[in-house]
Amino acid sequence: MELEDVRKHVLICNGSTCLKNGGKEVAQAIRAEIKNQAIDDIHTTLTRCNGRCIDACTVITYPDGIWYKKMTPQWGAQLIRCLKKGESLSVSVAYSYDGERFTGWEAMADQEIVSSITPAEMQEEKVDLSSSDKHK
Ligand code: FES
Repeated sequence: MELEDVRKHVLICNGSTCLKNGGKEVAQAIRAEIKNQAIDDIHTTLTRCNGRCIDACTVITYPDGIWYKKMTPQWGAQLIRCLKKGESLSVSVAYSYDGERFTGWEAMADQEIVSSITPAEMQEEKVDLSSSDKHK
């Protein structure tokens, strides 16, 4: 893969706490959605612990600098659909980088920085986990 072609980098935590909280399934769902939509400009990387086990399973996107918490396979697939449209997955944002430092979700919600996909919309999403979990 040539990095010049990459628009988004998705870091998926594969540390032990995140794995205990569905990290493997989240990674499979994210990669399946990328494959199912034939997206060629989103790169994924599995990481070790990112130091936010309290938020497990964590997913981080760059260059956005957004840290997602409590990710599920359904939210992982939705995240890819959001990234494709240039949006974030607001229901799961834990922190976002403002150019100087990271800001927590509550402050961002007050400032309406993030997009507004609702939990109800999320519940309607279905993810096919039978697809390949190979790296893109
Ligand atoms: S194991 Fe994922 S943040 Fe610690």
